Amino acid sequence: MAFEKICTLDDVWEGEMKAFTTKDGTEVLVVAHEDDKIVIFQNMCPHQEITLGQKGILNENGVLVCTAHLWEFDSCTGKGLNPTDCKLAVYPSKVEGDDIYVDTEGITPEKSHS
Ligand code: FES
Repeated sequence: MAFEKICTLDDVWEGEMKAFTTKDGTEVLVVAHEDDKIVIFQNMCPHQEITLGQKGILNENGVLVCTAHLWEFDSCTGKGLNPTDCKLAVYPSKVEGDDIYVDTEGITPEKSHS
């Protein structure tokens, strides 16, 4: 495990998401839920590898939607909701004080059918 600071709680407000890049160039998507619950996903849609930081939204139900072709993901687990045979990789994360840390070591972004 090699956690590195990726941003702070002030960088991503509750109900929002934002993309960041780790020191080794891995693009991650930080999703901020209620009560400072943070989930960090791959920043690439598994469908056609479009950047979720640009094409992704959190809809009114908290579902992460890639607006390129409307694939939907559970914004807490990364599980595919539509279609269901896909998922987003989840990176281990932690919050210490106001700082958000991520560990991308050994985790490969998911890809899916197209
Ligand atoms: S690239 Fe995301 S749904 Fe197609």
